[in-house]
Amino acid sequence: MMRTHLCGELSQSDIGEKVTVAGWVNRRREHGEHLAFVDLRDHSGILQCVVDNQVDVRSEYVVKITGQVTQRPEGTINDSLATGQIEITDATVEILSIAEPPPFPLDDRADDVDEMVRLRYRYLDLRRSRMQRNLRVRSTINASIRNSMVSQGFVEVDTPLLMPTTPEGAREFIVPSRQRPGSFYALPQSPQLYKQLLMVGGVDRYFQIARCLRDEDLRADRQYEFMQLDMEMSFVEVDDVLAAVEASVLDAAEAVTGVRPDPIERITWLDAMNRFGSDKPDLRFGMELAELTDVFSTTEFKAFSTAGSIKGIKADQAAGDWGRNKLDGLTDTAKSFGAKGMVWLKVVDVDGGLGFDSPVAKFLSEVETAALIERFGATAGDLLLLIADEWHTTCEVLGELRNRLGRPPVSEGPYKYLWVVDFPLFVGADEATGTPKPGHHPFCHPHPEDLDHLESDPMNVRAWAYDLVLNGWELGSGSIRIHDPKLQQRVFSLLGIDEAEAQKRFGFFLNPFAYGAPPHGGFAYGLERLGAILAGEDNIREVIAFPKPQSGLDPMTNAPTEVEPSQLEELGIRVLPPPAD
Ligand code: AMO
Repeated sequence: MMRTHLCGELSQSDIGEKVTVAGWVNRRREHGEHLAFVDLRDHSGILQCVVDNQVDVRSEYVVKITGQVTQRPEGTINDSLATGQIEITDATVEILSIAEPPPFPLDDRADDVDEMVRLRYRYLDLRRSRMQRNLRVRSTINASIRNSMVSQGFVEVDTPLLMPTTPEGAREFIVPSRQRPGSFYALPQSPQLYKQLLMVGGVDRYFQIARCLRDEDLRADRQYEFMQLDMEMSFVEVDDVLAAVEASVLDAAEAVTGVRPDPIERITWLDAMNRFGSDKPDLRFGMELAELTDVFSTTEFKAFSTAGSIKGIKADQAAGDWGRNKLDGLTDTAKSFGAKGMVWLKVVDVDGGLGFDSPVAKFLSEVETAALIERFGATAGDLLLLIADEWHTTCEVLGELRNRLGRPPVSEGPYKYLWVVDFPLFVGADEATGTPKPGHHPFCHPHPEDLDHLESDPMNVRAWAYDLVLNGWELGSGSIRIHDPKLQQRVFSLLGIDEAEAQKRFGFFLNPFAYGAPPHGGFAYGLERLGAILAGEDNIREVIAFPKPQSGLDPMTNAPTEVEPSQLEELGIRVLPPPAD
């Protein structure tokens, strides 16, 4: 063994012992005429070593130090360091590797360094305690999920990365085939189709810590490549899937935080939209949407008299923070989310009662004003924001405004998990054809209670589809799948896909169902999203060893790069010049 201990694990109970530690020089300070302090760092922590000042070690040199664990003299104890009571004395130093000065300090100060610089030198950034902790959070999550799934009888099976292109939703990354120039594989957006075929194959309970690839715009919660805990189960109903997923998520959360979260509450999609204006409500704060359509049922105010749905939110005592300019900006925000406009009302004292300071105050009757104040339980100084539109737009825009005004950073406690169930089977209609679009994907099982109006009123059919939400982020999605080919064709027909088209697009996936498919359902949740929140990070890049920045260009490896003309030749690919701006 090169070392006897890790830096961070030594304590006063080791005083008197001779130890060998190894790591990077975090800092060197001169100490009197003959000695120097070397703060030695490994992933477990930092340890002060007193060395001969003739030893030429500098920041980030890799060294091995052997010496005696000693109590630090009084007055030199450092309470901010876990090992601050002790130091290594009588030390001999062996230099294992010399180092250039790092381009940025490898401690908390690097948090303020340009992220592109951190990513360019990611191998140095990773030495920092924050990144070491984050990678370990991810590892703890993976280990505990694997345990949880195996103990629940799930079997770990891997599935191909090279597959045919499938219309799953996001844009695919495609890979040219050398043996069949002009043909392409697609990289999986998820193992969805394979895991369902594993159910046809009798695997019964499958899971995989699966890499997925989607060519979408990168954001705080999105990368091209990400990991899912992907699972599928046979002979189950919704409750069985939710219970299995919940056990694994709560096990992982407990393993990281030491605290087992409470059982996860459920809300229907319809309630989530009505109350929070979102299918991923953040329950860490209130500001629920108030239903106001009835208040304005006989209104003279034009903008409200024709709207299908009127709702609002109240920001307590926020009127003073929102001047005209800021409210104009907020109105523009509401419009950018699809609203025709936004009504704001500042609640003020008037003649012993309450009234509104607002450009539209004069259009509201006394009865409407009083009803609004009562509905919100408003007091002077509150700010009310109202949206009148068709139901979906009203909810969504207010959901966005609610988040703008009240939402804390995603990683801020407490952890609020939530199941959202009974998503709609279809959402919106394709503008050109008028056919509905699948809410999740075309293989979700319609809610059996709604099957009688599948054809007559498809937009009001619920799916056996559910999401898991944490602090306003979608952690995962899943559904019970259609296993009956006849029902599948009914859903396809509503989506405007006839049998020939279905055969052409999904034949390889659908035909196996003719050979006896068990009822089945599953789920997948994003491991970076769970990891980021449990690690206290607001961006998943912070919990990924080698993430891509928002541009998608990797400053460390320079990927994506051009390839040799001979490689393209072999693949039968000719590259067009980039399009002119
Ligand atoms: P879905 O597409 O909702 O469902 O994905 C499930 C979860 O994967 C994570 N995720 C991402 N994480 C980081 N970057 C991305 N670009 C990204 N895209 C998705 C999210 C998301 O909730 N096959 C279905 C699941 C099923 O029905 O069983 C699926 O993939 O946390």
